[in-house]
Amino acid sequence: MDKPKVVLGVSGGIAAYKACDLLRRLTESGHDVRVVPTASALHFVGAATWSALSGNPVSTEVWDDVHEVPHVRIGQHADLVVVAPATADTLAKAAHGLADDLLTNTLLTARCPVVFAPAMHTEMWEHPATRENVATLRRRGAVVIEPAVGRLTGVDTGKGRLPDPAEIFEVCRHVLARGVREPDLAGRHVVVSAGGTREPLDPVRFLGNRSSGKQGYALARTAAARGARVTLVAANTGLPDPAGVDVVPVGTAVQLREAVLKAAADADAVVMAAAVADFRPETYAAGKIKKKDDKDPDPIVLVRNPDILAEMSADRARPGQVVVGFAAETDDVLANGRAKLRRKGCDLLVVNEVGERKTFGSEENEALVLGADGSETPVPHGPKEALAETVWDLVVHRLS
Ligand code: CTP
Repeated sequence: MDKPKVVLGVSGGIAAYKACDLLRRLTESGHDVRVVPTASALHFVGAATWSALSGNPVSTEVWDDVHEVPHVRIGQHADLVVVAPATADTLAKAAHGLADDLLTNTLLTARCPVVFAPAMHTEMWEHPATRENVATLRRRGAVVIEPAVGRLTGVDTGKGRLPDPAEIFEVCRHVLARGVREPDLAGRHVVVSAGGTREPLDPVRFLGNRSSGKQGYALARTAAARGARVTLVAANTGLPDPAGVDVVPVGTAVQLREAVLKAAADADAVVMAAAVADFRPETYAAGKIKKKDDKDPDPIVLVRNPDILAEMSADRARPGQVVVGFAAETDDVLANGRAKLRRKGCDLLVVNEVGERKTFGSEENEALVLGADGSETPVPHGPKEALAETVWDLVVHRLS
């Protein structure tokens, strides 16, 4: 089989050097990559680097190898075009259909999915001109990844950093796997909770659970790849931020509730993949709890945490908001799942069986998605991304 053909457009920003890492990941995972830098990009990383890492010729202009008509052929034959970093200038040219170099010509001739990973200073990203250009590109079906927040060139920090190349690669992988399909979550805001809450006992101890957060991260990543604006409320995960996802770190169930409710106010869908502690210690000891010789330990008194899923399902922040819960069960999986769906009042409940070596911390998952409308969608054993895609398929169906 021919290798999938990827065009890596690189425009002129300092983050161009990070595109070398993305290029490596693409070539090492079996893609044929043609790098198309802009002339400005070559100020940051030279053509020799792009050519050596991709194994393909590199040019910026339409005047090289004219007999091969590269300004048309490169775009026509691509399975995916990813522009990383995409500067404000490149986004503007793409939005307005300008074609004054090889990259902009390629963007006009490509009929495959296009991913932009913008990187620029916060002021440029927030300028109304850039906002409108991004909106135009998204409306036309391109995936424009939200920049990360953090250190920018120089001493300033803010929104505008290129996301981690490993995470841009994940977006490319998802978009490629889905083929030429509309980013069906474009224009939608979705909220995902992930990980496991920790309920502190004293400054060094907590009650927690074994949720890794991987399923929630897979949901966030796939939603971003399908064009959504994603808020990921992450409880104690330690995983890298997915590209284009707004990550809100939390610790306890009470903090998670606050963050989820705030983000859900304008959300089209909320997916509660986090393992939320049902109880927390009634008291928190400001100093470390010491053992007392010859005495039995004091019992730990627990109080209930709010049931966030039930609360959000009963009192939707927006009409038509889709609410999805997860149920990890060890016994009587189906009966418990059905009862829980009714009890929680959500639209969909993803039921999976947990136990030794099952689900927690693993890369794979197997589940049954129960719908409040009586539907049952089995998801066979496979990567957590596959389950995530099924969840979004069902959400999109309900949103439309
Ligand atoms: N959940 C929640 N708030 C809680 C507990 C759970 O929002 N206080 C959400 C979880 O994020 C998950 C779903 O509810 O989406 C199911 O969680 P689970 O702990 O399995 O349900 P419980 O109601 O706690 O049922 P049980 O402990 O009886 O199995």
